[in-house]
Amino acid sequence: MKISLIEATQLLKNGCVAAVPTETVYGMAASLTQLSAIDQIFRLKGRPSNNPLIIHLASFYQLTEYVSVLPEGTERLAHSFWPGPLTLVLPCNLERVPSQVRAGLPTAAFRIPNHPLTLELLHAVGPLVMPSANLSGRPSATCRKHVETDFGQDFPVLDGGCCSVGVESTILYFGNGGWQVIRLGALPAEAFAPILGYVPDLAIFSKERSPLCPGQFYRHYAPKAKLLLSEELGSYSGIVLGFSGREYPVSCRVISLGSLDSSETVAENLYGVLRQLDQEHIETAWVDMDFPKQGLWLTIEERLRKAGAS
Ligand code: TXA
Ligand code: MG
Repeated sequence: MKISLIEATQLLKNGCVAAVPTETVYGMAASLTQLSAIDQIFRLKGRPSNNPLIIHLASFYQLTEYVSVLPEGTERLAHSFWPGPLTLVLPCNLERVPSQVRAGLPTAAFRIPNHPLTLELLHAVGPLVMPSANLSGRPSATCRKHVETDFGQDFPVLDGGCCSVGVESTILYFGNGGWQVIRLGALPAEAFAPILGYVPDLAIFSKERSPLCPGQFYRHYAPKAKLLLSEELGSYSGIVLGFSGREYPVSCRVISLGSLDSSETVAENLYGVLRQLDQEHIETAWVDMDFPKQGLWLTIEERLRKAGAS
């Protein structure tokens, strides 16, 4: 259900939850000060309580209230990429960040999203926690209709149109003396080289072997349809998730992810296409994985592999 900025402000201040737009995907928001609304987010999404939430801020200045240390490079990263699709995991002030937000960890995740409506909301309400506004494990939501499919027509949504980026923020964590990518996302690792002087590595586990980004270990982004992921079509005929401008056998029905010339467009379309499969009750689709393995394509590849994992 479409709500206005004023209604969203009131709901969040009064301890309710609402879905709000960001440039990456829609978020399910609660005020950082409203603990029962934060618990409701976990219940509504069916999200395990050991999967922490990202705290969304209106300004870099607010960050200093919630963190205990700013690792080397934090300010430069924030200055270069905020507002935008970068999340920083930082040692936090344990008294200021409720334990359920950070799943008991000594760190918390922060970002300033780049969407005019949500920036206004953040200025009016204060920091908001928001996971992606989808049922846990399902494809993320990139427009109001997707949120309503998962949570019902009456669920309050601040409608900011379709998300322009379409995949989640890249998450960086400072460990082992440098920044590491702990979730691939909208910004490719090479984007950080001019700021940091190096390309951050992809890191999955800490030295103690605990997962650096807990959410990465759950089933994710998955439609009900079975996805067959490969670079070769072989003798398959049926539904194909493919690319415009590429030839497929006439016995296949092609649902286009976009053009191979634009990883940005494919990212923007990705979750909508995965959701379309369920809407049309499609049981099986072959996914064309023959695309460049670099830059934003690596994020697209990772999302498709998670979506297709059984
Ligand atoms: O683009 C985005 O990041 C979107 C929009 C709404 O901002 N949000 C989003 O939230 O993707 P969510 O909850 O779907 O994913 C957040 C990820 C999870 O995998 C979680 O485990 C990780 O961030 N995370 C949160 N706090 C963390 C922490 N302290 N340490 C490591 N990982 C953390
Ligand atoms: Mg998510």
